[in-house]
Order: sequence, then C-alpha cells, then structure tokens
Amino acid sequence: AVASIQQVLDGKVAVGETVTVQGWVRTRRDSKAGLSFINLSDGSGFAPIQIVAPALLANYESEVKRLSAGCAVRATGAVAASEGQGQAYELQAETIEVVGWVEDPETYPIQPKAHSLEFLREVAHLRPRTNLFGAVSRIRHCMAQAIHRFFHEQGFYWINTPIISTSDAEGAGQMFRISTLDMMNLPRTAKGEVDFSKDFFGKEAFLTVSGQLNVEAYCLALSKVYTFGPTFRAENSHTTRHLAEFWMIEPEIAFADLNDDAALAEAFLKYIFKAVLDERMDDLTFLAERVEKTAISKLEAFINAPFERIEYGDAITLLQKSGQKFDYPVEWGLDLQTEHERWLTEQHVGRPVVVANYPEHIKAFYMRLNDDGRTVAAMDVLAPGIGEIIGGSQREERLDVLDARMRQFGLDPAHYQWYRDFRRYGSVPHAGFGLGFERLVVYVCGLQNIRDAIPYPRAPGLATF
Ligand code: 4AD
Ligand code: MG
Repeated sequence: AVASIQQVLDGKVAVGETVTVQGWVRTRRDSKAGLSFINLSDGSGFAPIQIVAPALLANYESEVKRLSAGCAVRATGAVAASEGQGQAYELQAETIEVVGWVEDPETYPIQPKAHSLEFLREVAHLRPRTNLFGAVSRIRHCMAQAIHRFFHEQGFYWINTPIISTSDAEGAGQMFRISTLDMMNLPRTAKGEVDFSKDFFGKEAFLTVSGQLNVEAYCLALSKVYTFGPTFRAENSHTTRHLAEFWMIEPEIAFADLNDDAALAEAFLKYIFKAVLDERMDDLTFLAERVEKTAISKLEAFINAPFERIEYGDAITLLQKSGQKFDYPVEWGLDLQTEHERWLTEQHVGRPVVVANYPEHIKAFYMRLNDDGRTVAAMDVLAPGIGEIIGGSQREERLDVLDARMRQFGLDPAHYQWYRDFRRYGSVPHAGFGLGFERLVVYVCGLQNIRDAIPYPRAPGLATF
C-alpha cells in the first residue's frame, strides 16, 4: 500500500510492515559500509523520511548512487524503528524506482542549502520545494481551514462576493480596470496602439478592492456572514506589507455595534492562532529555529492576552507624551503610521490593542458617524511585531447621513443605488471588519516580507507567471 511520509512518521504503519512512499529526494549520503541514506520528502508534513538503501538493490550502482536533490522516487520496503536522531521510523528499501530524474543536478536551483529569499522569489515556481515554503504553505492552509471552521461553528455563512465589480468599495480610487479584448482581433487606437479602453461588455468594470459592500447585502438577510476571497489594489507600493493581489476575510454581523465587532475580531484571531499551535507544531518549530525565535511564544502570548482598547484621541495623546522621536507627525486628525501603531502595541501596552473612533475625514464613507460629529465608529486591531492587522467599523445605517458622507467624499451616488437600498428597506445597525490574509500569514510565520506569504506574489516589478 502507498502511505504518505507523515503517516509513516506518525507510526500509522506497523514496524515490519511493507509500505510504498513517493516523493522528492532532499539529500543522499553514501556510507562506507556500502549502503546509502536518502532523505525523501513528499510535503505531507515538515520532516522527510530516511530511506535506507542497501547495496544489494538491483539498481544500486546504476541509479540509486546517482540520485540528487529534486529527483522523484518511489520506494517500497519495511518500516523499521530508527536509530537516527529526531525520528522514530525509517524505511528499509526493497525497491527504489526513479520516477523522474533531475536533468542537470549542478544547475538545479534548489540545492540542499539555505537560499536567500530574494533568490527564491525569482524561482517562485520551484520555491515550494524548500523547507521554508513547505512550512509556510502548510500553515497557510491550516489557517484557512481554521477560519472557515471558526465561522461555521459560530453560525456564519460564507458568501462568495464578485471579483468583477463596478463600485469602489473603499472609495480610495486604487482599482484595476478590466478591458474586454478579442485577442484575435485587437481593437486599435488611431495611432495603431492596442485600445485598452474597451470595457466589460459596454460597462466600466474593475477588479474588486473589497467584498464588503456586497456581503452587507447578505448580512442584512442572513445576519452573520463572511467573505474569503481575492481582492486587488492598484497601489504602486514597493513595501514589504502591500500586494496588488491579496486574500481578504471580511465578516459582517447584523444588529451589532463596534464593541461586538471588536469582540468578534479577538475571538477570531485567537482561534486561528490556537489552531496553528495545535496542528502545525512541526512547522512552527522549524520557523522558531530558522526564521524567528519567537514564532511559538508570540502565538502563545497572543492567545492568553486580553486585548486592550484605546480611543484614537487617547492614542494621539499617549504618542505625543511618549517622548519618542517618530518619522511621521502625530496630531489629532492624522492617520496612525506603522511606527506609531507599533509603539502603542509593543512599548505602551505590550499586548494587542484595538484603537477605536477615528477622525471621520481619514476613514471610508460607509463608516458610522459618531454623535460627536467628528469621529466614526472605526477600529483597527494592532498586534505587537506588525501593527495593523485588522481594520473594521460599524456601518452607517442612516440613509441621510450616508448620502451626506458620499457627497463629502465626492462619490457618485449612481454607483451606489443598490447599497443605499439597504438603508431604505429594514436598515439595522451592523458592523464588520477586514483581515488581510497574507498579513496574518506573515505574522504567524515570522516572515519579513509579504511576498513570501502567498504562492505567487503580485506586486510592482515582480515576474508574473
Ligand atoms: O483597511 P482595509 O482597506 O479595509 C477594507 O477593505 C474594509 N472593506 C474591511 C471591512 O471592514 N470589511 O483593508 C483591510 C485589511 C487591512 O487591515 C490589511 O490587513 C489588508 O486588508 N490589506 C492589504 N494586505 C495586503 N496588501 C495590501 N495592499 C493590502 N491592503 C489592505
Ligand atoms: Mg485599514
């Protein structure tokens, strides 16, 4: 029978039983005693399995001794207790079949050594073969599963919001426009250049920046809903925190205010971190050894820390009195920069912080205007080591106030008639937030650059394949 390497290492196959494993060679070492040790990985878990290949194998000299990193192999043999350090089981090979050779081992990009992350970004199609990207991929999967499980257990429904959209959900003007092109008969301008102004079947259309407005429609019928899908931002930023294409999770809850929203964000983040600690200790241990010492302790601390709540106005006062030299100015009415956020959460509180009630003119049009007339019911969740990871708000449920806000931001109400309908028919207080999935993967894995948190990063200047 065929088993995954993780099944064998977990002891799911009895010692002495014959099993087949299939994977890719990490390393081969030949002993003087006339046998070889092959570390084989199939990605089912962090650890490779050690295959002991005796010289009496029919293809020992002709093939086994030519195996190099990256070769694909199918090995059959008996499971044995391992004397090697670190793992309980190994495989005593009876046959080793080479399924795919590496055509030029010298130039194979993924050698058994530590490669720089810059280099690995250039070979994004081969980097999943490294320990690091294997670990990140498994953790990313674990987090996605935990997110769906959390919402399902709490009675939320997953709503698939559209990727092609006409409304600028954030009112921030950072959208990619879609054109319809007949590749066999490209439309040309008078100058003979390709005419990209042809739009989506006669209408202007864009890639969505957020599913929020669409998911609000479902919230105001199904009460507890969320989106989890790709979103796009045409920000030409070369930072380590921004992608042009990223995945966003956006829950939305009806009959709820900003306090309910903050409580949901806290329960949600803790649930995901706990799932990673429960399910991916193998990968976290590797990351703690090789990438960031605090990979495990940071998550444990987060789970056990009650979030602090600070008003935006108080945060400004605290920052001004901090005696710190910041690069960006701190003043009521200005947005908080990452350096300010990190001071608040790392230096001042030492725990995750929810900053609430920001000045109305720096936040999106859909956020609920507070009674003071100058702040909106918005919140950002800040975490030590990264700053903002979640942004959310209570939504403006009063039609007249929403209309005034849209006018203030210069938005065309014609694009938002459908959104105004929610305020005309059975409007209720409701709230939600958005979490950038890759920002959370960066945080959990202790990465430095968001481009390493998604399989195929899309950002200015990067290869697109
Ligand atoms: O703060 P943002 O723009 O909020 C929204 O889109 C709201 N519609 C959310 C809501 O209330 N439903 O984005 C939300 C989160 C940010 O906190 C950040 O984690 C992430 O999305 N994000 C990005 N992640 C990667 N690359 C980018 N360019 C990002 N822009 C935002
Ligand atoms: Mg934000």
